[in-house]
Amino acid sequence: MVSMDESWTLRNGMVIPHRSVLAAMTNKQSHDDGCLSDNEINFLKRRAKGGFGIITTAASHVQESGQGWTGEMGVWGDHHVPGLSRLADEIRRYGSKSFVQLFHGGMRSPSSLTGQQPVSASENFISDSQGTSRPMTLEEVNETIASFANAAKRCEEAGFDGVELHGAHGYLIAQFLGAKTNRRTDEFGGDVVQRMTFLNKIIDAIRAIVSSKFSLLVRLSPVSDDIGITLEDTLIVCESLLSKSIEGLHISCWDVFEEHTKGLTLTKEISQFIDHRIPIISTGSVWTGNDAQFLLEEGADAVGVARVALPFPDWPLSSASTDYAPAKPPFTPQKLIDADLSPLFVDYMRRWKGFVTDGR
Ligand SMILES: Cc1cc2nc3c(=O)[nH]c(=O)nc-3n(C[C@H](O)[C@H](O)[C@H](O)COP(=O)(O)O)c2cc1C
Repeated sequence: MVSMDESWTLRNGMVIPHRSVLAAMTNKQSHDDGCLSDNEINFLKRRAKGGFGIITTAASHVQESGQGWTGEMGVWGDHHVPGLSRLADEIRRYGSKSFVQLFHGGMRSPSSLTGQQPVSASENFISDSQGTSRPMTLEEVNETIASFANAAKRCEEAGFDGVELHGAHGYLIAQFLGAKTNRRTDEFGGDVVQRMTFLNKIIDAIRAIVSSKFSLLVRLSPVSDDIGITLEDTLIVCESLLSKSIEGLHISCWDVFEEHTKGLTLTKEISQFIDHRIPIISTGSVWTGNDAQFLLEEGADAVGVARVALPFPDWPLSSASTDYAPAKPPFTPQKLIDADLSPLFVDYMRRWKGFVTDGR
């Protein structure tokens, strides 16, 4: 039986010292120009010290116009590199592997922030106040692919071990994957394999510009009614991704215990399908050591966590014990501040229902 405190290996041979993965968490602590703040570095460094096998940064926009919210980390310019280098150095000191999550919000990059009409694969309704997105021109699609590649290169130069492409949660890559949000008739649209063209070209462009030891993960939402992604589509996407030069898949399940079709969890269904051909990280509602063990037994190679790592930065150190049952939310602001969340981040967490004692 696999244990949380055993190492595991990405497809390129990169050894990850522990099966815990700090999943990407937006924390609103970056400066207006996208540069990392000391608070954001401290927050991630503390989790590296806590023993996470992988530390993933918050979603970080690869183009200025792809920003989704204020305080978001950016990787679109060379002025970000000094902060990125500091963060990579801090994470390396504790032996964790460091990944930047590369992101473009697409139709979810509000014009109030970017000063322009949101773009997407197609014209899509956003909201009554935001209106609709505009389909990207072919030139814009190619520029965006190049921006993902340049951002990955910056991350490698800064000393990161890899990047994770944010293909989940309905942002730009997912908008291209989704049948509802991508109705293009050019090479970037069509059946699910054709809708993968944007993702595939990003992977190829990154691979052409980074070294072979730099790792590339892809994060997906296996099912999304909003944008039109079915589990069947996802299995086709997974099969197709196996032939690409990526090192692992990260599935964002929100609730890894939920049973889907055939009474199986998404992790079970996807891991059975993948059959060890590529490592899988699975994330969603894991809290205890028992939860983590359950997920490994469902077929995940590594266990992603987000919320539990906020009050408990040392979560990995105890996660191999099935007796480990850390306290559940809500948490006092002081408890979170003691775990190296800044007051700004604590304030953001007040918006997550039931998480902070004086929050929503
Ligand atoms: C505060 C917060 C910010 C998040 N930001 C991101 C993000 O930037 N990118 C991403 O892919 N997922 C993001 N997520 C989702 C998490 O990575 C994770 O998939 C989700 O919280 C479920 O895991 P959990 O139950 O362990 O929290 C965020 C979650 C939280 C709680």
